[in-house]
Amino acid sequence: MYHNIFDSHAHYDDEQFDTDRAELLGSFEENGISGIVCCGVNIETSKFAVELSHKYGFVYSAVGFHPLNNDEYIDGDTDRIRKLAQDGKCVAIGEIGLDYHYERESRENQLILLEKQILLAKELDLPIIFHDREAHEDTLNILKKHKPNGVLHCFSGSVEMAKEIIKLGMYIGLGGAVTFKNAVKPCEVAKYIPADRLLIETDAPYMTPVPFRGKRCNSLYIPHTAEKIAELRGCTAQEILDLTDRNARNLFNIR
Ligand code: NI
Repeated sequence: MYHNIFDSHAHYDDEQFDTDRAELLGSFEENGISGIVCCGVNIETSKFAVELSHKYGFVYSAVGFHPLNNDEYIDGDTDRIRKLAQDGKCVAIGEIGLDYHYERESRENQLILLEKQILLAKELDLPIIFHDREAHEDTLNILKKHKPNGVLHCFSGSVEMAKEIIKLGMYIGLGGAVTFKNAVKPCEVAKYIPADRLLIETDAPYMTPVPFRGKRCNSLYIPHTAEKIAELRGCTAQEILDLTDRNARNLFNIR
């Protein structure tokens, strides 16, 4: 059985977990899960993540506004996020970023809120968890400008972009997408990433790896992603789990 399974990105506030959340999270430790970062996407879910981290020793929180929730941001929310981020088990500002696929909010407004949150992370000396969907160019520009510590989660860029991210000292998060049949870029990236820059994640309840595609995702499926990455890199899945657990603890400053 696998151990040291550190899921660096999940959303256990999601209503898809309402029926069995306690049962599911209660089964994680005996199944090798060593840590989970539960990411907020607005004030309410950030609060939820902080509360969940107080119920389970292996759960940590990240707090912030996702670009798809940009329209919910009201005056004073930066202070509310700051307060939540000062919790002892909050390890990052996230999930923040840019989403030009849905572009629910103008690019200009997304960039304004993103910049505020990056500055907050730097003020609090916390890493960021960054969502980049079809916004590679602006993502690179803003990261180069502010040079925050953090991870580009669910990485969908090329090897060239991965190189730039690594150069900035950031980490790259890979999830279920590497197991998809049509995955070309994620697999090239999985082969390339230096061992000390790789994180593994689910983005649960989304991005379910093969062979569970179509079902609700949860952290117990991470070994399928680890097995695929191991196959690409020519090592064992447990080695991938060991190094991604170590990397997550380094990035999120978990001792
Ligand atoms: Ni996410």
